[in-house]
Amino acid sequence: MDKSSYYVTTPIYYVNDKPHIGHAYTTVLADVLARYHRAKGDDTFFLTGTDEHGQKVQKAADANNMTPQQQCDETVVRFQELWKKLGITNDDFIRTTQERHKKIVRAIMQDLYDRDLIYKAEYKGRYCVPCERFFTEKDLAEGGLCPDCGRPTDEIIESNYFFRMSKYQDWLIQYITDHPDFIQPSFRANETLGFLRKPLEDLCISRPKSRLAWGIELPFDSDYVCYVWFDALINYISGIGYGSDEEKFNRFWKSCHHLIGKDILTTHTVYWPTMLKAIGVEMPQSIFAHGWWLVGTTKMSKSLGNVVNPMDMADKYGVDAFRYFLMAGMTLGNDASFTEEEFIARYNSDLANDLGNLLSRVVKLAIKNFDGKLPKPGEFQQLDLELGAKAHQAIDALAGAVNNMKLDKGIDTVMNVVRAGNRYLEQTAPWTLAKNGETERLGTVLYTAAEVLRVVSGLLMPLMPEKMSELRYTLGMTPEEINAFDFDSLRNIGVLTPGTELHDIAALFPRILVEDKAACAKAEPKKQEKKEKAKTVKPKQEEEPLPEGIITIDQFFKVQLKTAKVLTAEPVANTEKLMKMTIEVGEEVRPLVAGIAQFYKPEELIGKTIVVVANLRPAVIRGNESRGMLLAAKNENGLKLVTIDGGDFPSGVSIG
Ligand code: ME8
Ligand code: MG
Repeated sequence: MDKSSYYVTTPIYYVNDKPHIGHAYTTVLADVLARYHRAKGDDTFFLTGTDEHGQKVQKAADANNMTPQQQCDETVVRFQELWKKLGITNDDFIRTTQERHKKIVRAIMQDLYDRDLIYKAEYKGRYCVPCERFFTEKDLAEGGLCPDCGRPTDEIIESNYFFRMSKYQDWLIQYITDHPDFIQPSFRANETLGFLRKPLEDLCISRPKSRLAWGIELPFDSDYVCYVWFDALINYISGIGYGSDEEKFNRFWKSCHHLIGKDILTTHTVYWPTMLKAIGVEMPQSIFAHGWWLVGTTKMSKSLGNVVNPMDMADKYGVDAFRYFLMAGMTLGNDASFTEEEFIARYNSDLANDLGNLLSRVVKLAIKNFDGKLPKPGEFQQLDLELGAKAHQAIDALAGAVNNMKLDKGIDTVMNVVRAGNRYLEQTAPWTLAKNGETERLGTVLYTAAEVLRVVSGLLMPLMPEKMSELRYTLGMTPEEINAFDFDSLRNIGVLTPGTELHDIAALFPRILVEDKAACAKAEPKKQEKKEKAKTVKPKQEEEPLPEGIITIDQFFKVQLKTAKVLTAEPVANTEKLMKMTIEVGEEVRPLVAGIAQFYKPEELIGKTIVVVANLRPAVIRGNESRGMLLAAKNENGLKLVTIDGGDFPSGVSIG
């Protein structure tokens, strides 16, 4: 891997509420990437921060009886404390209320205004407060709802300032087409190109103070403040010295990688590139939009009471175990499910059983048979060499996975080495060697396994810095050796020195007993908790074999059928059959792809109340995410959707 610079960013989070697992996820991901790049010697810069202006923050301040600045100052601490707890190694933390940022935003606005790239005009449209976004009538979903989150929008008529974004539409389409790695994963690039098929409008970048005073005042009109997104996006350059420290800016900007969630794709892949183009700054190298953490199959929301608090998780199970789960549990780009059961299951199998067990077997046998010291290996045999080679192959596999944003695959490769390590111990049976007094062979086996653990712990260091340092300490490595960790040194062979004192520690990852689980149900919805208790009390039924093709009512109720309303529909390009829709299922808005394009036109679908299987595992169909399956009757004469009698019925209602 070549040594170069690496600049990674997270979104700057709104300070209207405390952080949740989604914020923790993007920030841990950025941290893991930053740690990998530092370990391979790259000149690395990692920026995170908070988005402190705008209506959302103002509203939260009002609700809490505070000034907006107080709201910011109190909430920012929640983020900063969480990052400290989670071992986040950001190089800077930017707050958009800092003068260093506001100064740059003002300078950029003045420059654009002077060059007539910002102008004043009357505006009529709809505004979605939760998304802080303007929409024109034609962008709205059925019933005037926000096309992004499905919530009601407010009507607005006022004079405002506009950025000539429309001017860059053709250029942007070309740029995205010419740079396939610019927006990742590629299906998100297609989504942006889809958005750009409609005419791009100019962007309203001001708010009259009479409506919203909490923002950066426009340098050319003191009656207005800057639109929060226009302000916020600039953090990515103001945070590394744009307009103040050109040397630093040039050093890092050229290798900038933005990490975002899929919720903020348009602002990052349309607004931001056009803003940069207008001020004459090169594009970032990549914008990666990851998927959503769901709780089970449901979106997290305050009203459902299922928001996962990362601080609680880290307190209960340890920071590193939580970081591990976040990184191993999500395939980058797709949605993933978080439940405490899944967390515990993965912890127990990967960390307690596989990794923890391998370490304790090796260290305990060495301490017992070699006077507490790492044994000297004798001649290596085929099995030993094979295991060593497997560990070394994982180094390149992981490096590749990091570069290609396939982190979960890379982690899996490393965990496969750990599993191979345990199998190796079963094959070589060091406990029998010890019993039979075959000391030299025993030493070779334990040394081989210890070397594998050295490599594995190095590879997992960016994920679990505390635990992997502990592991290395157990293997007798000195604090200097542990800290002077660099990726390439992992390739060296025979690094551990025979004769070094080993350190026996308590289990690295003590097993979580499932009985303890009740104590940690806090993060789950109350309803589920009750259901679970009911389940355990129920006497076990006699297992009577079912006739072929017959299911029990319990089996049927595993399928969650729900009413859903179609908000948007459009045929999937280059296919005949597929229709891509946005559906509303109660509070949730999700994408759904179905093979109905030959039977329904988009306008016939929009507004219909249909029936969907709501708890189907999400899938990506021709690059389009689909969450759920609709029900329809089909024979040689055609296809008819299953709908609700009378039609007008809320979405999200259970059927059964
Ligand atoms: O949008 N799963 O801030 P925000 C995964 N201030 N990631 C999630 C998530 C979930 N369920 N929920 C949130 C803003 N995230 C703006 C950004 S940037 C110039 C301005 C993560 O507080 C994900 O990274 O609403 C998402 O994009 C971000 O939090 C949104 O945070
Ligand atoms: Mg948000």
